[in-house]
Amino acid sequence: MLVLGIETSCDETSVGIVRDGKEILSNVVRSQVDIHKIYKGVVPEIASRKHLELIDAVLEEALREANVSIYDIDLIAVTNGPGLIPALLVGLTTAKTLHLLLEKPMVPVNHIKAHLYAPFLEGNTLDFPYIGLIVSGGHTALFLVKSFVDMDFVGSTLDDAIGEAFDKVARLIGLEYPGGPAIDKLSQYGDPYRFDFPIPILDWDKNRYNFSYSGLKTAILYTIRKIGELSEKDKADISASFQRVAIEALVQKVLRLVKDTGIYKVVIAGGVAANSYLRKRFKEISEEYNLKVIIPSLKLCLDNGAMVAGLGYHLYKSGIVGDIHTDVFARDWFIPRGGRVSL
Ligand code: KG4
Ligand code: ZN
Repeated sequence: MLVLGIETSCDETSVGIVRDGKEILSNVVRSQVDIHKIYKGVVPEIASRKHLELIDAVLEEALREANVSIYDIDLIAVTNGPGLIPALLVGLTTAKTLHLLLEKPMVPVNHIKAHLYAPFLEGNTLDFPYIGLIVSGGHTALFLVKSFVDMDFVGSTLDDAIGEAFDKVARLIGLEYPGGPAIDKLSQYGDPYRFDFPIPILDWDKNRYNFSYSGLKTAILYTIRKIGELSEKDKADISASFQRVAIEALVQKVLRLVKDTGIYKVVIAGGVAANSYLRKRFKEISEEYNLKVIIPSLKLCLDNGAMVAGLGYHLYKSGIVGDIHTDVFARDWFIPRGGRVSL
């Protein structure tokens, strides 16, 4: 079965074509980062207009690269949330148009869950259940994955997402947008122990599996104010110290969930999973605790259409379809800010 996946939830316009939920035939991604850089963040209306400009060409390129015709496509999968409403609407409208014109089924896909599917497009296999950790610009959340279509929400950030924290700290020290890759790079030259920023762990009772990043951001703001004019060395040290504690909170929470559930398998996905220190740290943890940790390759960590097509295949096989009334949504109802779900 050939599935076309469309992704326009934020600032990447992407179309991927995937066979049987496994084999990527093409995965074209056009980033709008250069446009949003000027504003130091994604402007939803501009993202939407850019998606509209790019989507036809990206679709054509994906078909050309996969060497298939649009008439060969059996299913159209599309991200319908969470994300920026004006941006999501472009992808969903494209999907609905193809659905009606080609008379092929369409399936709406949750963007966060699609991220967790990315490693299975690279030959990885893992028995259910496993722990899923999403670390992106909009989310920091833990799931118990019982099947590709059945994931229990376990915890999330109470305030900022980890990617958001990377972006905000980068802005505080005058780095370019997006801040994640910039901090990752600069940290290589910094001392991760110069600043003793608090590890945002929260309490182990009420917020056992939740995260919080706004306090850390504030601690960094005060440090910067105290220093005044930042030298290049200060910037690198702040980056490395921030990165160390931001990632350590993930490590501690994942280990807690591993111990509580006895499930020694973890998939980490989303933009921040591209972070080199995160990858190094979880490798150490996996060796120390005999934990199987799967993180997608760098290009599949970021938003892309192939992960949408991949998960869409399984959703469709389990009987889920969309139609002309399918709508977009900005936030997940099952991820309350500050919510707590007991296992
Ligand atoms: O998953 P994603 O592409 O978009 C969302 O769905 O949010 O994630 C984007 C986020 C941004 O906050 C970006 O700064 C962060 O991922 N990011 C990184 C790295 N590469 C991207 N954060 C830390 N280190 C990186 N290497
Ligand atoms: Zn994403």
